[in-house]
Amino acid sequence: MATNSRSIRSLCWVSAVAALFCLGFIAGWFAKPTHPNYTNAVHHASDCSKSNMIKHFFSPLSRKFTRLPHLSGTEQNLIYAEQIQKEWQEFGLDSVEMVPYDVLLSYPNVSQPNYIAIVDAQGNEVFNTSLAEPIPAGYEDVANIVPPYSAYSAQGQPEEDLVYVNYGRTEDFSQLQRQMGINVTGKIVIVRYGKIFRGNKVKNAMLVGAKGLILFSDPADYSADGVKPYPEGWNLPGGGAQRGNVMNLNGAGDSLTPGYPAKEYTYRSRPEDGVGLPSIPVHPIGYHDAFHILKFVRMNIHTNNQVGRIYNVIGKIRGALEPDRYVILGGHRDAWVFGGIDPMSGAALVHETVRSAGRLLSKGWRPRRTIIFASWDAEEFGLLGSTEWAEDNAKLLQERAVAYINADSGIEGMYTLRVDCTPSLHTLVYDLTKQIASPEIEEEGISLYESWHKKDNWTNERDAPRISKLGSGSDFEAYFVRLGIAAGRARYTKNRKIERYSSYPVYHTVYETFEVVEKFYDPSFTRLRAVAQVRGGLVFLLADSQIIPLDANQYAISLNTYARSIAAIAQTHREEMRSYEVSFDSLFSAVENFTVAAREFHERLENVNRVRAINDQLMYLERAFIDPLGLPGRPFYRHVVFAPSSHNKYAGESFPGIYDALFDIEHSADQEKAWNEVKRQISIAAFTVHAAAMTLKPPA
Ligand SMILES: *[C@@H]1O[C@H](CO)[C@@H](O)[C@H](O)[C@H]1NC(C)=O
Ligand SMILES: *[C@@H]1O[C@H](CO)[C@@H](O)[C@H](O)[C@H]1NC(C)=O
Ligand SMILES: *[C@@H]1O[C@H](CO)[C@@H](O)[C@H](O)[C@H]1NC(C)=O
Ligand SMILES: *[C@@H]1O[C@H](CO)[C@@H](O)[C@H](O)[C@H]1NC(C)=O
Ligand SMILES: *[C@@H]1O[C@H](CO)[C@@H](O)[C@H](O)[C@H]1NC(C)=O
Ligand SMILES: [Zn+2]
Repeated sequence: MATNSRSIRSLCWVSAVAALFCLGFIAGWFAKPTHPNYTNAVHHASDCSKSNMIKHFFSPLSRKFTRLPHLSGTEQNLIYAEQIQKEWQEFGLDSVEMVPYDVLLSYPNVSQPNYIAIVDAQGNEVFNTSLAEPIPAGYEDVANIVPPYSAYSAQGQPEEDLVYVNYGRTEDFSQLQRQMGINVTGKIVIVRYGKIFRGNKVKNAMLVGAKGLILFSDPADYSADGVKPYPEGWNLPGGGAQRGNVMNLNGAGDSLTPGYPAKEYTYRSRPEDGVGLPSIPVHPIGYHDAFHILKFVRMNIHTNNQVGRIYNVIGKIRGALEPDRYVILGGHRDAWVFGGIDPMSGAALVHETVRSAGRLLSKGWRPRRTIIFASWDAEEFGLLGSTEWAEDNAKLLQERAVAYINADSGIEGMYTLRVDCTPSLHTLVYDLTKQIASPEIEEEGISLYESWHKKDNWTNERDAPRISKLGSGSDFEAYFVRLGIAAGRARYTKNRKIERYSSYPVYHTVYETFEVVEKFYDPSFTRLRAVAQVRGGLVFLLADSQIIPLDANQYAISLNTYARSIAAIAQTHREEMRSYEVSFDSLFSAVENFTVAAREFHERLENVNRVRAINDQLMYLERAFIDPLGLPGRPFYRHVVFAPSSHNKYAGESFPGIYDALFDIEHSADQEKAWNEVKRQISIAAFTVHAAAMTLKPPA
């Protein structure tokens, strides 16, 4: 690279960083000793970095967008979309457009409420569960609060005995049936929320032939010790119930148009043939009601599926040198009710990042690559807005997308940072967090990295803070496991070692207000600022670094770990491995080839003159793990190394094809067939990893 252009660019960065710093972003990132200019800029800028600046921006913003319920498909969510579009234009983006899709949504019937009743011998409903949550103070007059419901539940009024199946996990159902000999077929199943995605609980109940499913929030899972229920504290009150969709879309997006964007002209299958729709009634209740529900019950479920219009807002900054290379920052806007945490604590950060970027543009800055900002709709209904847009733009994204950074809830606890991302982003995340200050008041002078490292050291295997695999449950899904775009997410989280509760207690209830963040989770807004610095920093560095900061060596290290761990699972069946001649040698050989190719690639990177060619190899590395045929039975999950777990959509599984083939294999009726499938999956993984290694080699 030419020294001249480098110094010109660093000058731009001085003002860029100063502006970002004032807004609380990317604090100190460029305070690297090798770049005296940057250090000066940061010193200069630090005058304006006091915490009142943070509150000044986040606080009114999140208050503004959390005042009214804005469920997907409602007028209020469109009004917020229009407001965001207008403000992003005012902030100075090059273009901001509203992109609508017509997708299958699901709402309760306003004149026929959903509830569960205990029925006496005469058929009288002698106890009914509540029709709504008690409204928190200050919101009594708010209209259009949707009562707790399970979106896409089937309609129906089944009456049956109840069977309690713990968390409704695969292992809970097997234990009940295999060890306790209890037959669940034809029964109504009640399970507690937590541990896994609710849609997987519904799928498991359907698989055993249950007639209906009741979900409840157990205080053991939704109360932290020594914390009061909202509004005195941040625990779940007994009348609160978790809303949520119960689809099993497996990456399909809109249920009626799998694989294609839900445009006006798009062919739609009939609602009864929709992908992932549950065939049984499902309903969520709070723990006060759950205490009463014991034996024979009737479910009264009248929720309707209907096609409705949703709106993504898409803003762009055209790249100065590589406009055809895209870095995406996307997060959803729709909320079950007010969305105080989910999603507005994240959407507010996107809004602030756009504002900062606009400031920089007005000062003459322009990133090397194009940055795309997205405010997604209908995430809560199954990642619909983001998936439809990915389908709509798949050809462009396959050719041009460098990375996707997700921006859902910014905070779910008060302890430390949590990052889930593709292995090639680990190094960037570590480098970046070393340049960001810890948001904890008692940790002055300590970096976010040090604070995070101390609190969440990686399982003692490595001396680094823990980074997890991506699962699903938010909008990055289609970008990562369908299109093969390097992806990551970051948020502030609880102490998983001692805080045993599931997701934050008020998750998806009417108690997710702006106040729950302001009073309890982040009164100084410094934690959200740190998260904004991580997300914003990743986007700015991916968009503006001359060499794309992705690390193939780290991918090699992770592949090695995953290959060993899947081989270890298989080794628990030593006999069968021998008799069916199952070997992991090809996979280990492919991982070794990848390791060598990655090392040589990064050595070449040291003195490269064809930057564009090398950047393309980095950009397409994630794409190389895509198998066009997809995983068995899951055509939209096409990444050979990662997929959402088949048993819990929230969790990520590595080498998912092999993992699923091995799962519960001892209970397969046809052992030979089952082990042949394991062999087939090992060969697919080995081939794909080796093929990915070949993309890192010099072109000729
Ligand atoms: C809601 O319930 C009412 C009363 O039973 C019924 O007439 C109406 O058709 C239902 N609405 C929808 C959208 O199905
Ligand atoms: C439950 O609701 C049904 C339908 O509205 C009503 O007939 C019944 O009396 C209610 N039962 C109780 C105990 O309130
Ligand atoms: C479970 O109950 C259903 C319905 O009563 C019956 O058809 C089925 O055979 C039973 N299964 C077992 C394993 O007993
Ligand atoms: C993290 O764990 C490693 C390995 O056990 C250890 O060497 C290191 O000191 C730990 N780091 C911190 C910051 O606790
Ligand atoms: C790894 O590379 C070696 C040498 O090119 C080759 O023989 C071997 O087949 C490769 N492994 C796989 C799984 O392709
Ligand atoms: Zn969310």
